[in-house]
Amino acid sequence: MTIVKSLELGVVLQCILAGFILLPLGKEEKCKEVLPNTHFSCVGTKLNYIPAEIPVTAENLDFSFNYLGNLHQAMFPQLPHLRVLDLTRCHIQLIAVNAFHNVRNVTTLILTGNQIKELGNQSLNLIQELVVVDNSLSSLEELHLWPSTKLQVLNAGTNNIESLMIPHYFVNLSDFKLLDLHANKIRVITVAHTLILQEMSGRNLTLILSRNPILHIEPGAFQGIYLHEFCLLGNHAVANLTKSHVMGLSGLKVDKLVVGQYRDATKILTSGEDTLDGLCSVNFQEIYFRHRETGPRPISVFRCMLNATKITIVQGFEHDMEFVQFRQLKELHLRNHKLRAIPARQLSHLHTLETLTITDNRLPVEFGESFVDLPHLKHVDLSFNEIKVRECCRRLFNNTPQLRYLNMRHNTEIYFDTMPFKGLELLEVLDLQHTQLSAVGQYPLLSNLNRLKYLDISYTGTVFMSQIPLVGLSNLEVLIISGNGFQGDSLRYVFANLTNLEHLDISNCEIKALSWHSFTRLKKLRHLVLNSNRLLAVDFLTNPSLGALAWIDAGQNNIVAIPQNVLSSLPTNLSIFDLSHNPMECSCSNEDFIKWTIHQREKLKNLNETLCKTTFSTYIRVIDVDITNCRYNWGYAIAILFMLSFVAAVAYRYKFYLRYGFILLRGYRNPKHMEFQYDAFVIYSSEDEAWVMDELVENIERGVPPFRLCLHMRDFEVGKSITSNIIDEGIVGSRKVIVVVSRHFFDSAWCCFEFELAQSWSVFEETPSLIIVILEDVEEERTRKVLGLHKYLKKNTYLKWKGNYLSNVKFWNRLRNAIIAGK
Ligand SMILES: *[C@@H]1O[C@H](CO)[C@@H](O)[C@H](O)[C@H]1NC(C)=O
Ligand SMILES: *[C@@H]1O[C@H](CO)[C@@H](O)[C@H](O)[C@H]1NC(C)=O
Ligand SMILES: *[C@@H]1O[C@H](CO)[C@@H](O)[C@H](O)[C@H]1NC(C)=O
Ligand SMILES: *[C@@H]1O[C@H](CO)[C@@H](O)[C@H](O)[C@H]1NC(C)=O
Repeated sequence: MTIVKSLELGVVLQCILAGFILLPLGKEEKCKEVLPNTHFSCVGTKLNYIPAEIPVTAENLDFSFNYLGNLHQAMFPQLPHLRVLDLTRCHIQLIAVNAFHNVRNVTTLILTGNQIKELGNQSLNLIQELVVVDNSLSSLEELHLWPSTKLQVLNAGTNNIESLMIPHYFVNLSDFKLLDLHANKIRVITVAHTLILQEMSGRNLTLILSRNPILHIEPGAFQGIYLHEFCLLGNHAVANLTKSHVMGLSGLKVDKLVVGQYRDATKILTSGEDTLDGLCSVNFQEIYFRHRETGPRPISVFRCMLNATKITIVQGFEHDMEFVQFRQLKELHLRNHKLRAIPARQLSHLHTLETLTITDNRLPVEFGESFVDLPHLKHVDLSFNEIKVRECCRRLFNNTPQLRYLNMRHNTEIYFDTMPFKGLELLEVLDLQHTQLSAVGQYPLLSNLNRLKYLDISYTGTVFMSQIPLVGLSNLEVLIISGNGFQGDSLRYVFANLTNLEHLDISNCEIKALSWHSFTRLKKLRHLVLNSNRLLAVDFLTNPSLGALAWIDAGQNNIVAIPQNVLSSLPTNLSIFDLSHNPMECSCSNEDFIKWTIHQREKLKNLNETLCKTTFSTYIRVIDVDITNCRYNWGYAIAILFMLSFVAAVAYRYKFYLRYGFILLRGYRNPKHMEFQYDAFVIYSSEDEAWVMDELVENIERGVPPFRLCLHMRDFEVGKSITSNIIDEGIVGSRKVIVVVSRHFFDSAWCCFEFELAQSWSVFEETPSLIIVILEDVEEERTRKVLGLHKYLKKNTYLKWKGNYLSNVKFWNRLRNAIIAGK
């Protein structure tokens, strides 16, 4: 009942909420409230006006891809709090003076993709960032931004600007820091064009001139200019980087210089080995250089980078790196080269080097030479290089005692020597995923890495065969070993001492069961990733040491349901539980679990993939299962049903006792004190009367000695109920009971009743006083239908009537003896 109500309440609440969000914006419901009251989006709604329903509290309005045409003052409602206004591709051409008056506190204005020729003198006094990309602007002069003195960023990329001439009022923009003129039409840069840049030199300015068709830079144009960052990436379709470009930069002082090719598409011809020689007259700290060269001789890349602290080269090397005596290099990043070997020898003995990245080599690269004597090397990334290493890693990192981070993921294979990490005891992060590893699952190869916090050896073909592989990793916080395997009971013990572990990923390891003890000492474990295994149960989650567990991913397992006792003992801090893609059942027998999912739906992740199978073999979301039909708690219902049927069965089983009990209550005569009136009471079907009268009565009553039989049709007292007669005259009044079993016997309810009564009587009397005569063969099945008869026939001897003379003589003798027995 309560479930139904809460569901309905939920729906009602949702409706109210939905209405709350959409109603204030009018019937069209075109704008969306991204964040309550402050952030609104009307992207692509084909509106040609700004809806008046946008509340005055709005701070951010994305109105891109609409049709505004010309902007005038009445266009905007009063939005005094608006800070970010995006008018990308709104077909704006003319902007009237004071058009932004009602939104004059905007700090970020985006006008990308319009046809604005001239911005005019606008009262945007607080504007900090202005984006006028793709507006067919032909010069920066047109913008007329003065007197907005707060401007920090101007992005005027993809326009028709032909000159680097900066309007003089920029000198007054004391916070100005980024001028982006990428993809314009600047061909020549002369000393005269950079005069204002000279004046702004103390400003820590970033200048982006990438993808301009620059043919010539006048020597001295950048003399004495200081920039924070200067980007001069060419476009392969236009300017190649030539020696004269680089020469034109002489005298520039820049923190970070970005030069080279814009895209890494086609190879382009370089102008020679000395292309970068001009860099020797540029003062820079950091350089990013991308170039995919072809030429008779490779560019001498590093010749003028001796004094750099950080160097990033993309696609610069075919085959070999030159030997350079760097003076203060701290970071070297080499990506996407065609190196034949890791240049360990060239980089050895660099006492300043801290970070080294050599990744994505486009050929398998050799790593045989060692890095030697790099006392400050902390961070090494050699991922995605198709490296094959024999005898890792002690030998390869010789005297690099500060190494904290080693990433060799996505390589081909790594074979370890003994004590492979000796001398690398400070390692905190080790990532070897997707690289074939040797022996890690058998031996404690990592045992000296007691500072290691992060270990990823997923998909490395590792099979954990013993308890010791992770011994010694006492500070490990993150362990990712998915896509591997476990043998024997290694899974139960292998995590035993990882007492600081917070994140464990053992997904995709073909795990069928997890022991309750596996995680006993993992008291800090917060994330447990188990997906894509074959788990049937998650009973181990009831282990009380998992109290910190907040997030479990158990998707794609074989979990059909989680029993109530497990649900009620789940870790208390559990806030995300992923059970998606499990073969769950929607039946009422899973009601507890389904109810739990509905109540805990905010904890369940991937609800739309958390499906269960209905009786019709369709799949529905578990939280959509209608358990109102299971409302009469099926557990109780079944228990009650079971009890009722039990009582009924018992009553049926002993119905004759019950009837007998009634009769006794009516007046019971103790048989012990009574002379038997008859020698035997005969239970038979009236259909067999002929046999009884012609054979039985003839032979028994008329034989020697004569017996007296009680036959109901002859001897029952008239006027007395049949039951009373059976009891008083037949069973109680006779010493023995002869049961004549035939096919007709089973058809007669009375016969069966009489037999059952007689049987119960014989139980009370504790003497087997029943004599069974089988008159004709009956199927065993039918004897089962009379309670006790089947059993009785199996346990006791009976007489069988065969009908021929010889056996008849035997039969009557045995019957007489049976009647006499116990007399
Ligand atoms: C220069 O600006 C950049 C960001 O544009 C900033 O990170 C850096 O600290 C600034 N340097 C100085 C000296 O102000
Ligand atoms: C490196 O700096 C030194 C002075 O510190 C200077 O003499 C030398 O020319 C510079 N080299 C390059 C290539 O910039
Ligand atoms: C766990 O540590 C104890 C001592 O702290 C040690 O005796 C035991 O062998 C270790 N077990 C594993 C599996 O690392
Ligand atoms: C459960 O979470 C709370 C809040 O994040 C934290 O203070 C508490 O220690 C956690 N409980 C356990 C057993 O880790």
